[in-house]
Amino acid sequence: MSIQLRNTQSKYGLIAMLLHWGMAILIVGMFTLGTYMVELDYYHPWYKQAPDLHRSFGVIVAGLMIYRLGWRLSNVRPRALGEAWEHRIATWLHRLFYVLIAAIVVSGYLITTADGQPVSVFNWFKIPATISGFDNQEDIAGEIHEWLTTTLIVLVFLHALAALKHHFINRDYTLLRMLGKSDSPITAGQPDAPMTSQRTTRSNNTTTTTTKE
Ligand code: HEM
Ligand code: HEM
Repeated sequence: MSIQLRNTQSKYGLIAMLLHWGMAILIVGMFTLGTYMVELDYYHPWYKQAPDLHRSFGVIVAGLMIYRLGWRLSNVRPRALGEAWEHRIATWLHRLFYVLIAAIVVSGYLITTADGQPVSVFNWFKIPATISGFDNQEDIAGEIHEWLTTTLIVLVFLHALAALKHHFINRDYTLLRMLGKSDSPITAGQPDAPMTSQRTTRSNNTTTTTTKE
């Protein structure tokens, strides 16, 4: 079995899957770390280290985001499964994820640079503070950061529920495709499968496909 790096119309490629699951773990980890670190008192051993780690991983998230956006734009997207209204919501939610993550990174940067401090990445290199000194910059950026991260996590929860609904209720391939399975064993690996709206359901090792024009 050959490993496919790029997406096809019936399947996500390895790069898209690694980026999706890797970033999902990173982002949930960042949310947990962020929530934990703001509660630490000055004498806690992690008082300085936790925000240092948070900022460093934040820059990794930013780099992966840019790469992922480029990858998404230069790859075919597997055709959506389910109803037309589901496709529309999913498409806009996926776009919103990119916008939210970018805004979270920018607001995080603005909290850090408010007093002219650069963002240090694991002590390897520093990203200079280019925007600093605005009135209440740290507080305003901090409020925005908190709101955006909370919104992202709520939407991620709904996104995961939708994936589970596809898997357990519709019994289609939406979730399995993000885990490396193809919805269509016949067209797997062929980038030129027809673009139609389909409901391909799984049942006891057989696959049934209903196509809507
Ligand atoms: C996906 C990426 C990120 C997530 C999910 C995230 C999440 C969070 C969360 C949940 C908090 C706690 C908010 C609160 O309850 O007050 C926080 C705080 C913070 N984050 Fe992030 N963050 C991300 C990226 C970044 C980046 C890229 C930076 C900086 C370059 C950054 C810098 C900070 C700072 C300095 C705080 C402390 C704010 C304060 O003291 O009130 N974050 N983050
Ligand atoms: C921080 C967490 C997450 C983020 C930011 C996120 C974001 C995204 C984005 C942007 C896409 C569109 C494809 C792409 O551009 O890569 C996508 C697809 C997908 N995600 Fe997530 N995701 C997260 C977590 C999860 C979780 C926890 C699950 C399942 C339990 C999940 C299941 C899926 C599935 C099944 C697809 C494919 C949808 C389709 O083919 O229409 N995601 N996700």
